[in-house]
Parts: sequence; C-alpha cells; structure tokens
Amino acid sequence: MANRINLNQTSYHGAGAIEEIANEAKAHGFNKAFVCSDPDLIKFHVTSKVTDILDKNGLEYEVYSDIKPNPTIENVQHGVQAFKNSGADYLIAIGGGSSMDTSKAIGIIIANPEFEDVRSLEGVAPTKNPCVPIIAVPTTAGTAAEVTINYVITDVERKRKFVCVDPHDMPIIAIIDPEMMSSMPKGLTASTGMDALTHAIEGYTTKAAWEMTDMFHLKAIELISKSLRGAVDNTKEGREGMALGQYIAGMGFSNVGLGIAHSMAHTLGAVYDTPHGVACAMMLPIVMEYNQECTGEKYREIARAMGVQSVDAMSQEEYRKAAIEAVKKLSADVGIPTKLDAIKEENLQFLAESAHADACAPGNPKDASVEDLKELFRKIM
Ligand SMILES: NC(=O)c1ccc[n+]([C@@H]2O[C@H](COP(=O)([O-])OP(=O)(O)OC[C@H]3O[C@@H](n4cnc5c(N)ncnc54)[C@H](O)[C@@H]3O)[C@@H](O)[C@H]2O)c1
Ligand SMILES: [Fe+2]
Repeated sequence: MANRINLNQTSYHGAGAIEEIANEAKAHGFNKAFVCSDPDLIKFHVTSKVTDILDKNGLEYEVYSDIKPNPTIENVQHGVQAFKNSGADYLIAIGGGSSMDTSKAIGIIIANPEFEDVRSLEGVAPTKNPCVPIIAVPTTAGTAAEVTINYVITDVERKRKFVCVDPHDMPIIAIIDPEMMSSMPKGLTASTGMDALTHAIEGYTTKAAWEMTDMFHLKAIELISKSLRGAVDNTKEGREGMALGQYIAGMGFSNVGLGIAHSMAHTLGAVYDTPHGVACAMMLPIVMEYNQECTGEKYREIARAMGVQSVDAMSQEEYRKAAIEAVKKLSADVGIPTKLDAIKEENLQFLAESAHADACAPGNPKDASVEDLKELFRKIM
C-alpha cells in the first residue's frame, strides 16, 4: 500500500505569526468566525491576542468556551448547537489539544450531521465531507493537533477517551506562534512538551514508520530535547524550539500512528483525568523499555538525537539503555512525576482492557496483551 501524507494547506511559524489570521480570513472570503477556546485562556487574555486582531480588522466572530481539558461528548454537542445558532462559516481554534480537538469534532459534525451522536466518529469514520474550515492556533507546545488528522474525545459515561482519525478534520491553516505559548506555566510547559516527545518517539518506532516520517521524528526529538528545559524556564529560544519541534512531530505521527504509551495515557486521562502530557511522560520510558527488542537500531538514533555522545561506539544494549536514560533524565529535569497514586490494584483489569482496545495500540512495535499492559500500569503505582 502507498504511504499517505496529510498536512495543512498553509502553516505560519514564528513570533508574530498570528497577525496572518486577518489576511487569511479575508483571502478566503470568510464572513464570521466561531472562535473555540477554553475559560482559562479567556481569563489569562491568551484568546484576546487573536480576537484583538479580528477586532482591528473589522472581522466578525463569536466566542465559544464551554470546553474542558480532556473535552467531552457534551462539550462537542453544545458546541455544534452554538455553531448552528451563530451563523458562522469557519472556525478559529485557539488553545491546546482540547480546544483544537473540540473544534475538529464540531466542524466534522456540522459538515456530516449523521455523526451527531459523536461516539460513531471513533476510529476511522466514513465521513463524506471535509469539516468546516478551521484556522488552528495552538497555545501549548505538545499535541500538534493543528496539523494532525486526529482528535480525542472523552466519553464520561463509559469512562473512556476515544481517538478519531479522519483526514477531513485537517485544519486548512495552522498558525504556530511561540508568543501564544509564553504564558504557559512551568508544569504545563513540561507536560505538554513531554507529550510532544512521546509523539516523536512513538511515531519513530511505530509499525508504519517510513523514511519521510523518520525524518520528521528524528528532527522533532532533537529540537524537543534541546529546547524543553529552556521552554520551562520561558526562554525565547526554548519556546521557539518547542513550537517548531512539536509541530514537526505532528507532521510525522499523524500520518503513521503512535503506540501503547498513548493507549495507556488515554485510559489514565479518561479514568483519573490525568493531564495527557503527564500520563504520556510517565508511560514513555516504561514503554520504551518494554518495546526495545522490537526496535532494531532505532534507539541509537534516538540517543543521538537527544545529544548522547559516542553512540556509534556503543553496543545495542548500551545505546538502548542510553536512549531510555536520556528520556528519564529530561522528564525528571522538567519535574514530571513517576508515580500515580490514584491507581489501585482493583482498577488494573479495566485499565488494561481499555488501553488494549485503544486506536493507538495496534501501531505499537511489540504486540501488547492485556496482561502485559497490566504489568506496565503496575510500574507507575
Ligand atoms: N489531536 C491530536 O492529535 C492530539 C494529540 C495528543 C493529544 N491530544 C488531546 O489533547 C488534549 C490535551 O491538550 P493539551 O495538552 O494541549 O492541553 P489542554 O488543551 O487540555 O489545556 C490544558 C490547560 O492548559 C491551559 N492552557 C493552554 N494554553 C495555555 C497558555 N498558553 N497559557 C496558559 N494556560 C494555557 C488551558 O486553559 C487548560 O486549562 C487531550 O485531550 C489529548 O488527548 C490530541
Ligand atoms: Fe499525545
């Protein structure tokens, strides 16, 4: 089968890039924007960095902010209703993965109303129409949802998060402006950055990886490991490196898939509301250790991209250990915990079965059984 690559039509990168929104909205002849953002971003005046530009240019919009982190089916359904009432003809998503994913789901359902129950969008849904045009402006440097064909929604009733994979949801324009990310507190910068590293490493080692996505992932690993500590200290170089690194990771993983660090993170997010990046970061080194025998020489390149010296002189066992240690060190340096107290022995069966059924699991380089997944969850107890 041929390898497929989906990317944005246009993307802008660098400080001040948000100014381009007005030109793009005018060039496309859009009339009114439905701006999706979340309550904290409104409170901290992050959303207004973009709406000020719309105001300055006389562009009409309406803000929708009923979106919680790990967005739910209800957030999407209320959003669909609000979009219908608004008379808008395009979406501007301003936020992290939660705002961007909610926008994607709203845009897909407006264009494909037969999926209004939301649940039927899980996996690869047979939508017929591209979603309402989306301009995506990430405010975290992590999910890369602005350039992925995925979105993740939480089913509160069934205690699960489900992944939807659909090229029809690709934002037509992505605006990656590191200044939109500079207000992130340290902990959020660290966790979202580790989500990006998990994308790059799982995308590099996933079953469907190939030359072009390897190129994206290795560059992303290099940029993220060089920039994350600086970003946590809010340096300009750190923010810029993370903005670009997470996007490049998205160019890769969106087209080839991930692995069980993500399956397990989705489950932890659904059951304990664990922030996605924290869950990914806790699982990543554990999953790397579990997967190592199925990764050929890839961990040597991961170690090299993370700045480990003399990797060519190392044995396979040594460079695999070095790659895992480099990930653990970065995670510890930016303050990510290694244990999740909330997990109890009696939850393990549900957690493992749920992670096993997750859309990211089949991409893992090593096939993990429910029993294997239980053992892996046990390591963060
Ligand atoms: N679509 C994809 O490909 C993809 C990939 C990975 C994860 N996800 C999903 O994305 C969601 C997580 O997204 P996220 O990690 O970006 O976080 P988020 O969108 O859930 O935001 C987390 C919190 O950070 C705040 N915040 C965001 N940007 C800020 C800023 N610049 N300054 C201050 N506060 C800010 C938000 O207000 C919110 O309270 C999860 O649901 C996850 O499953 C999607
Ligand atoms: Fe992720």
